Amino acid sequence: MKNNKNVFDNVLQLIGNTPLIKLNRMTANFDGDFYAKVEAFNPGHSSKDRIALHIIEEAERQGILSPGDTIIETTSGNTGFSIAMVSIIKGYECILAVSSKSSADKIDMLKSMGAKVYVCPAHVKADDPRSYYEVAKRLHEENKGSIYINQYFNQLNIDAHYNSTGPEIWEQTEGEITHLIACSGTGGTISGISKYLKEQNPNVKVIGVDAYGSVLQKYHETREFDDKEIYPYRIEGLGKNLIPTATDFDAIDKFVKVTDEESAHTAREISNTEGLFVGYTSGAAMQAIKQLQEEGEFKASDKIVVIFPDHGSRYMSKVYNDKWMEDQGFFDSSRLVQSSIEYVK
Ligand SMILES: Cc1ncc(COP(=O)(O)O)c(C=O)c1O
Repeated sequence: MKNNKNVFDNVLQLIGNTPLIKLNRMTANFDGDFYAKVEAFNPGHSSKDRIALHIIEEAERQGILSPGDTIIETTSGNTGFSIAMVSIIKGYECILAVSSKSSADKIDMLKSMGAKVYVCPAHVKADDPRSYYEVAKRLHEENKGSIYINQYFNQLNIDAHYNSTGPEIWEQTEGEITHLIACSGTGGTISGISKYLKEQNPNVKVIGVDAYGSVLQKYHETREFDDKEIYPYRIEGLGKNLIPTATDFDAIDKFVKVTDEESAHTAREISNTEGLFVGYTSGAAMQAIKQLQEEGEFKASDKIVVIFPDHGSRYMSKVYNDKWMEDQGFFDSSRLVQSSIEYVK
């Protein structure tokens, strides 16, 4: 079996090397060729598999983690799932502090992967003792022999994407990429990929996607943290109420802000036009592309890569649920695809 290319020792060997898939219908009238890096093809169904594996293996290399130890993290869900998956294979305990904004699907999934989950209130300040950052810090202090991944403030988060996602995109586009569009949460994805791409070609334009209600765009433009920018929003994993050191603001050319409503509709549109069942932030990234196209950002010869960070199955109780859309005031029957459910008695 050793020579069979499609046989693996464990699921972790499938992390990375995700496909780049051309977008055809949604961008048919746009300038340039558009390709999505579809991170749902990772075994944990998101880009966070890459950082979980890289950070844990780096801790093992440094001798600060041995079997039976505990791994702790703050997570909107995806990083937690990836850490839980790596922990199962490598024999670690996994404790996760999650924001109450995370979908019920995501929280149940973490539990299903054997993690101990703490759900913390979303709309409190980052330094509030109930915030998921503070809860994770406290649990780390209380648990001897634990490591705290701390993805928002861990350089290894950037390195994971510098070492894998960046080179993959460069190779897949044969160096022809002109633009990278990526959502920024911790900033690890966009910063790591940008660093690699700009080393190959400094003219590659890197555009971050931020949420209304987040401080990232204003900080990028002014280098000032303005807490007046902060208010609740719905998209999970995008934007922030603090400045993460895992974001290299110098590696990002500009930020575009997108709304909860447009991003939700655009996620559904990707699923229904491209056949790619993607998560909420994929909708946000694609929404940013629509806005950039309107602004005349692209030209016909451009090759644009957009990161689709995770899978639509994580949002069945949110973006893909008509009742949830209605509750948010997002429901617009004219924008829904013609599909139906009929119960045969
Ligand atoms: C669904 C989703 N999209 C995008 C991001 C942003 O990626 P990064 O944290 O690397 O900036 C995250 C991160 O939490 C995420 O969970």
